[in-house]
Amino acid sequence: MTTLTILTGTTRGLGAAMAAQLAASGGSLVTLSRKSSSALAEIASVNGTNLTQIDVDLASTPAVKRAASQLIPLLNRHSHVRLIHNAGVVTPIAQSQDLMNLEAINDAFHVNITSAIFLTAHVLSHTPQATDRRVMLISSGAGRNVSSGWAVYCATKAAMDRYAEAAQLDQGSRARIVSMAPGVIDTPMQETIRATSKDDLPSLERFIGFKENKQLADPAAVAQRLLKVLESEAFGTQTIDDIRQHQA
Ligand SMILES: NC(=O)c1ccc[n+]([C@@H]2O[C@H](COP(=O)([O-])OP(=O)(O)OC[C@H]3O[C@@H](n4cnc5c(N)ncnc54)[C@H](OP(=O)(O)O)[C@@H]3O)[C@@H](O)[C@H]2O)c1
Repeated sequence: MTTLTILTGTTRGLGAAMAAQLAASGGSLVTLSRKSSSALAEIASVNGTNLTQIDVDLASTPAVKRAASQLIPLLNRHSHVRLIHNAGVVTPIAQSQDLMNLEAINDAFHVNITSAIFLTAHVLSHTPQATDRRVMLISSGAGRNVSSGWAVYCATKAAMDRYAEAAQLDQGSRARIVSMAPGVIDTPMQETIRATSKDDLPSLERFIGFKENKQLADPAAVAQRLLKVLESEAFGTQTIDDIRQHQA
């Protein structure tokens, strides 16, 4: 039995924490990020992990197509295949009458959900040998509860939930697909949120409070829980899932 894990968005935050843990655990890891990491390569080398780093801007259609072609030859060797789509952007944060930056809106959809759909299709269609295929899409409570100023982010994450349900219906017992909310985590994304103006994000103080009151979870701890749940027998029981529903 060999396991291949494909992980997007590994330069910082939750993705960097998951990448470091996977690189330390043996097996095979493919990262899809805008920048490769020599530190990650070092962790993989010390721990005997077979690491491939694919550079890709997930907001770019040609770049995502190129990355998918690079991925294909790596997919048909493993009995256990996992895709974790972690890359995400919370911007643009603005009131709906101000959402005039079409490039930023397109980028958010492309990174958060379009690339996830496309990469999932490649993983599902190029792993006929795999006996255990799992896809974990890192979603957000924002897809389930609305916040003013987050129209685009909420829409992309709600799309992720609906996509996961439809894809699970397609796959039946051939794959387990989960849209997983990770809780609020102390990452650069939270810094971006705290740097927003209150005019754009009326609930700004709530996010400042999360930081001040030490309510943000540690990325390494969340990464560990997510990876544990991904490998558990229970994974896939709930297509729309939340890591906080699972025991630490
Ligand atoms: N932090 C939270 O409280 C929280 C809460 C709920 C859900 N989430 C979700 O958890 C996931 C990870 O969030 P995080 O907090 O770790 O975010 P983060 O600190 O902002 O990191 C986001 C990651 O996504 C990558 N990414 C963004 N745009 C990209 C692009 N165009 N091409 C390739 N990679 C790109 C970033 O790489 P670059 O360095 O290249 O930009 C980075 O590695 C996201 O899906 C987020 O929506 C986070």
